[in-house]
Amino acid sequence: MNILDIIAKKRDKGILNKEEIEYFVKEYTKGTITDYQAAALIMAIYINGMNENEITNLTLAMAYSGEIVDLSKFGNNVVDKHSTGGVGDKVSIALLPIIASLGVPVAKMSGRGLGFTGGTVDKFEAIPNYKTEFTMEEFIKNVEKTGISMISQSLDIAPADKKIYALRDTISCVDSIPLIASSIMSKKIANGANKIVLDVTVGLGAFMKNIKQAQELATEMLKIGKLSNRETICIFTNMNEPLGYAVGNTLEMIEAVKFLRGEETPEDLKEVVLELGSYMLKLAGKGDNLQENKQRMLENIRNQKAYNKFLQMVSNQGGDISYIEDLSKLEKAKYIVPVYSICDGYIEEINAEDIGKLACYLGAGRLKKEDSIQVSVGLVLNKKISDIVKKGDVLAYVHSNDEKNLQYATDRILDIFKISEAEIEKPKILLGIM
Ligand code: URA
Repeated sequence: MNILDIIAKKRDKGILNKEEIEYFVKEYTKGTITDYQAAALIMAIYINGMNENEITNLTLAMAYSGEIVDLSKFGNNVVDKHSTGGVGDKVSIALLPIIASLGVPVAKMSGRGLGFTGGTVDKFEAIPNYKTEFTMEEFIKNVEKTGISMISQSLDIAPADKKIYALRDTISCVDSIPLIASSIMSKKIANGANKIVLDVTVGLGAFMKNIKQAQELATEMLKIGKLSNRETICIFTNMNEPLGYAVGNTLEMIEAVKFLRGEETPEDLKEVVLELGSYMLKLAGKGDNLQENKQRMLENIRNQKAYNKFLQMVSNQGGDISYIEDLSKLEKAKYIVPVYSICDGYIEEINAEDIGKLACYLGAGRLKKEDSIQVSVGLVLNKKISDIVKKGDVLAYVHSNDEKNLQYATDRILDIFKISEAEIEKPKILLGIM
């Protein structure tokens, strides 16, 4: 088999067979196919798409390109959760300790941020000494000991996806339905859970910009779930504006911890956490009544069981919990500067992608996968869509380590926050289920 023929076939809108897809995945993972050849094929897939068989074959080839986590000792109801990406998305941190505190084992591997979207692993780096890299045995032991472990995709899990995802990011080929569906589902299959709840984000700060695209993506992921015997649910959530108020690694960790402690509960974050969680509990066999599941989740926030579960996990993974108990100890940016509104009105739009890019510019994210990040920087919104605003009110706070960035960030915020004279309806956060 020859990679040149495979590239040419897809370039000319052909259908790749199982052997061709497996050959590409295997040889690219090994390094015998070069990045530029893989980039050509990925671009051809991006432009010409893939049919259902091709997507399934790509998913399975990537899933089995490395190790498969064996979670069978935790039973048949291990539930995993994955988001298709967003801005200010701290759902995993706020949700999974609650689920674990209700007796569902959580074995979660998360990624780092790429492009304008954030990654859970970077947010954990805000906690001094928190370890995100473990061997497979240690990872399983963590779950046995505390009921929850949240680590990076450092194990040899779907290495083909790791390579292809990083490549896609450098050649503007992330937002493709076949490539996203196969990327997410390959990791979920390799991660060993038999039930999956997917948060399919929709809007300006998501890869899927409208509900139709999101439904197409969900349809593909559900088909793969069915074929691989994983019960899968897709929940569509609104990602037009950032989720919650904080965008940036330490800032989001603080927001998630305050949520777990029941101290500050942004309404949109709460709705997403409760919705995803109520389905996770249902799939885990912990109760079919979604409203009751939500009440039990809220109860474990009130009685601190969820927060204590989080502390237990952080401590078990080497993290210094004194920084969680006293959040003011976490590293702060050198400059924290408010941006004031220059007019009266109602907030009409806060483009999440633009906010994500601004946070990246300040140093919270990476433009290339080798870039290092600054955990303390980012933005904290003070207003959300539909809020009333008066001239002189704070729209957002810029957290920056570099004085030179402040004027640019202020100008961008004034531009990104669109203010209308007419009242604006509060946007719906939950957009449907498949
Ligand atoms: N998240 C993933 O894991 N893969 C993608 O392709 C997009 C979002």
